[in-house]
Amino acid sequence: MLELNAGTGDDAVFFVQHGRHVHATDLAEGMISVIAHKQNQLPADAHLGNLSFQQLSFTQLDQIHPAQRPAQGYDLVFSNFGGLNCHPDLSAITRHLPALLRRDGYVVWVIMPPICPWELAQAARGQFKTAFRRLHASRSTLAHVEGAYFHTHYFSPKQVMQALGPQFSLRQLQSIGLFSPPSFLEAFPRRLPRLFHWLCRQDENVGRSWPFNRMGDYVMLTAQYTHV
Ligand SMILES: C[S@@+](CC[C@H](N)C(=O)[O-])C[C@H]1O[C@@H](n2cnc3c(N)ncnc32)[C@H](O)[C@@H]1O
Repeated sequence: MLELNAGTGDDAVFFVQHGRHVHATDLAEGMISVIAHKQNQLPADAHLGNLSFQQLSFTQLDQIHPAQRPAQGYDLVFSNFGGLNCHPDLSAITRHLPALLRRDGYVVWVIMPPICPWELAQAARGQFKTAFRRLHASRSTLAHVEGAYFHTHYFSPKQVMQALGPQFSLRQLQSIGLFSPPSFLEAFPRRLPRLFHWLCRQDENVGRSWPFNRMGDYVMLTAQYTHV
């Protein structure tokens, strides 16, 4: 699989430890150094060779090392936790996918949608900036991630599917952080752990159904390259 905006490589290491081959990419040199360090920590068994990495923007996927491109194409192009929200134009990324994916391969992208009920609810506490930051479609929000600042652009699942184009079919939408509170309410799980776990279960149970699967802190979108 190919991972975009892999960050510190936690997901890449998880997949490698579960027997997958991962080529992890990220724009930031610092993130790639952390992944390199994690690779050194992997046990010197078969897993070690299953993780490769490259400093690369997801807008330049035509520059993936040829040695890390499977001849038949990747099974999966994965992006977690809103990395793709750092770019204003998803088509700059999606245009590379037909050359990268195998026929019937998947994209699984965790993106930040424009509607997050927990954020909107902050209006009741007078926190209007937080409440409405996703709704200013023409403006981006400056987000602080792992010591770096990024402009954040919010995309609905419909906009992602439009960027993917007719060669892709939507397979699943799963809301993440719809009922369970987002990370900026970090005290919530500590203060109310049982309620927090119950809310997480509601995300699992209800978060795949329309209309809930289109909103939340994040939405996980699975689409298949049907190639028609
Ligand atoms: C919100 S983090 C997601 C990190 C990781 N996927 C995770 O789950 O923790 C954003 C990551 O996107 C990366 N990023 C931002 N713009 C990028 C670009 N144009 N190409 C590739 N990676 C980018 C950043 O360097 C950062 O590591």
